[in-house]
Amino acid sequence: MANVVIIGTQWGDEGKGKIVDLYSQDAHVIARFQGGNNAGHTLVVKGVQTILHIIPSGILHDGKICIVGNGVVVDPRILLQEIDQLKERELLPPKTKLYVSEDAHLIMPYHCRIDSAREAKKGAGKIGTTGRGIGPAYEDKAGRCGIRMVDLLDLETFRERLFRNVEEKNFLLTQFFKEDPVDGEAIFKEYSEFAVRLKPYIANTSLIIDEELKKGRRILFEGAQGSHLDIDHGTYPFVTSSSTVAGSACCGSGFGPTQIHSVVGIIKAYTTRVGGGPFVTELTDEIGDRIQKVGHEYGATTGRRRRCGWLDMVMIRQSVRLSGISGFALTKLDVLSGIDKIRICTGYKYKDEIIKDAVPSDLKILAQCEPVYEELDGWTEDITTTRELASLPANTRKYLDRISQLSGVEIYLVSVGSGREETIVLKNPLRGV
Ligand code: GDP
Ligand code: IMO
Ligand code: MG
Repeated sequence: MANVVIIGTQWGDEGKGKIVDLYSQDAHVIARFQGGNNAGHTLVVKGVQTILHIIPSGILHDGKICIVGNGVVVDPRILLQEIDQLKERELLPPKTKLYVSEDAHLIMPYHCRIDSAREAKKGAGKIGTTGRGIGPAYEDKAGRCGIRMVDLLDLETFRERLFRNVEEKNFLLTQFFKEDPVDGEAIFKEYSEFAVRLKPYIANTSLIIDEELKKGRRILFEGAQGSHLDIDHGTYPFVTSSSTVAGSACCGSGFGPTQIHSVVGIIKAYTTRVGGGPFVTELTDEIGDRIQKVGHEYGATTGRRRRCGWLDMVMIRQSVRLSGISGFALTKLDVLSGIDKIRICTGYKYKDEIIKDAVPSDLKILAQCEPVYEELDGWTEDITTTRELASLPANTRKYLDRISQLSGVEIYLVSVGSGREETIVLKNPLRGV
């Protein structure tokens, strides 16, 4: 028995979806624990691409239990669309079950409207959110006026909560943002229909996880976003509104930390960021363009071009510390093939100081940090068909070794292509080998 938490170590889009899909073969339950449909997790199986925003990335495997935990904020329209699309494409296996926590908060239409209105008002200083209403939904959760999945099972309570919110949100929308109000009755009608369809999926998912733990079944917890988008530990305010580190798996799905055996940090072989905010190793030259093109670095949720840069070990060391990472899954190594000299940022130079272990919280200081690089020779070979570490070019192995040395963490897996099989597995944390 080994329960594993998967998290992103950078700013999201590290390839979590691919790795969760792969590891799901050895898990019985796959649970999302935070975020919402700001996430876009891509799976490629036998050449067929599936992008998931809310449903856990284990869904393509038969006989699994997929859970959307209490820490996730759920837009019911998107969840139902996702279920419908999977059914239409005949990708929902017959024996796989999907449950949504009764405690998960709902994303409401006014959350999306406020998200966009706030971003528009900020202008140049905007965060560059996905516009999916994530921040406003978590605000209502913390403000104790949110509406939960369980409320959909009692439409009287739902209506009462909805109209109390609509009054306040419409004041904000019309008086502050000078926008049109939302229509409470239309929302009630639409969400009442969603309620009928969602009822079979709504459950106490903490109990389900507990039952499966007691049977000794393996559980895989699927993080969304990345450690540096974490609300507490990220490059605030250029972050998302949930806790993205491994500890969040416990509160976001309702089980205790003693049940976690391993934390796998997903690292992209370089760094990307979508949206605004600091990026010390960002490349605005032709190498950055090349990585962006070869890596197809466009957002899986919004289609936006992702900013690209060299691997930043200050960020990675911080992620290791915050989540107690046991091992790495390193993705997109193939994208670096053909680059003559590859750089790794080993520290930040700030005035006379070299910062190595923590990204400065003060964004004014961070803005003055210069990356300190170590340069390694690249490799020219196509590595996408390689399935053994020993068959990788010597320079590729040197790059991997250096990442391990600089972080003090071993590499469990190397991904050399988007397909499930385009992977070199060194250690399987679910099997404990
Ligand atoms: P996630 O949000 O962490 O699940 O990552 P995304 O799905 O948003 O972005 C990762 C992108 O890289 C997707 O298009 C994947 O299909 C793709 N991908 C994942 N691993 C690899 C890899 O090793 N090599 C290449 N070339 N593409 C990969
Ligand atoms: P996955 O799970 C990359 C970014 C947005 C923005 C900031 C806040 O696919 O890795 P939000 O809509 O959450 O309020 O936006 O966070 N962001 C992501 N970037 N991958 C993601 O998810 C992201 N989810 C949010 O671009 O900068
Ligand atoms: Mg993504």
